[in-house]
Amino acid sequence: MSEILRVENLTTRLSARDGSAAAVDGVSFSVHAGRTLGLVGESGSGKSLTCLSILRLLPPALSQAGGSVWFKGENLFDKSPRAMTAIRGGQIGMILQDPMTSINPLFTIGDQVGEVFRYHRGVSGRRNLWARAVETLRRVHIPAAEERVGSYPHQFSGGMRQRIAIGMNVGCEPDLLIADEPTTALDVTIRLQILSLLREIQAARGMAMILVTHDLHLVSRFCDEVAVMYGGRIVEQGPVARVFNDPAHPYTKGLIGAVPKIARHAERLAVIPGQPPLAGEHGAGCRFAPRCAKAQPRCFSHYPDDRRFEDDRRAVACWVPEGLPS
Ligand SMILES: Nc1ncnc2c1ncn2[C@@H]1O[C@H](COP(=O)(O)OP(=O)(O)OP(=O)(O)O)[C@@H](O)[C@H]1O
Ligand SMILES: [Mg+2]
Repeated sequence: MSEILRVENLTTRLSARDGSAAAVDGVSFSVHAGRTLGLVGESGSGKSLTCLSILRLLPPALSQAGGSVWFKGENLFDKSPRAMTAIRGGQIGMILQDPMTSINPLFTIGDQVGEVFRYHRGVSGRRNLWARAVETLRRVHIPAAEERVGSYPHQFSGGMRQRIAIGMNVGCEPDLLIADEPTTALDVTIRLQILSLLREIQAARGMAMILVTHDLHLVSRFCDEVAVMYGGRIVEQGPVARVFNDPAHPYTKGLIGAVPKIARHAERLAVIPGQPPLAGEHGAGCRFAPRCAKAQPRCFSHYPDDRRFEDDRRAVACWVPEGLPS
């Protein structure tokens, strides 16, 4: 199983008037060919910024402060902006949180999808480009692709636009797809269609995938590994079935306990009291400590190191992990 992406100690800072705060703080994980990593955590935990940092598409208020992103053995942070433009959309597909960010309302779908093949695959000639666009629409199950390829984005439904965005991003057969909440704005039936579509594409090409979502059911169905973020850090990661059946971090336990069905063993659905911290607004200790029922004095003063267990397949950052000696 080959490693496609390895993120090491990724740190992204938010510039503020009085000093800067880490919105992504020492994040490390890897994703292998044909596998999907689910990135979960409450709103504001740093999931989107992790994705944007990998793609080197940070908004102006943020800057890369450290770490490395190894994509097929090369550090993306050493690449020129031009090389990055060629990698994005070609070798790394991206579906960002807002689907309209990847589709331009002023051009027909055929022109936009064709442009991807012209730029990344050197396809030329209007007929050839149009044919690739039709093929892409068919692949993402847009009905009457040949007739609709000349339409503008507003002439498609939201679900169709999202499928087109997926088609554009996987058309060049990327080795990695980063999908940030690709189905959040869609109804349940379309959501399932899109996810099966992603799976189909993944199975055919062995693409690695990062799926950011709030939906833990979706993670349990579609992901192989899961990384749980809290306050800019990954607090727990490992194979989905292991983490969900036997969470080691109190925050993971809280998240799972708040979801019906996944929380098979929970006596009742629990709500995690309190609010997650804003970027930088936390003490030196574990960021979850103020909300954690198990917190001890050291949890407030020192951040716990990552502890690896179950043959190194799992990791948890907690002083008092569930099921492990503290
Ligand atoms: N452009 C920006 N300018 C200033 N702060 C930002 C910006 N983008 C994100 N942040 C801050 O960085 C932190 C992480 O944001 P991020 O968008 O990564 O969260 P998220 O986990 O993707 O949340 P959600 O689930 O709501 O999408 C938050 O505290 C957020 O307020
Ligand atoms: Mg987000």
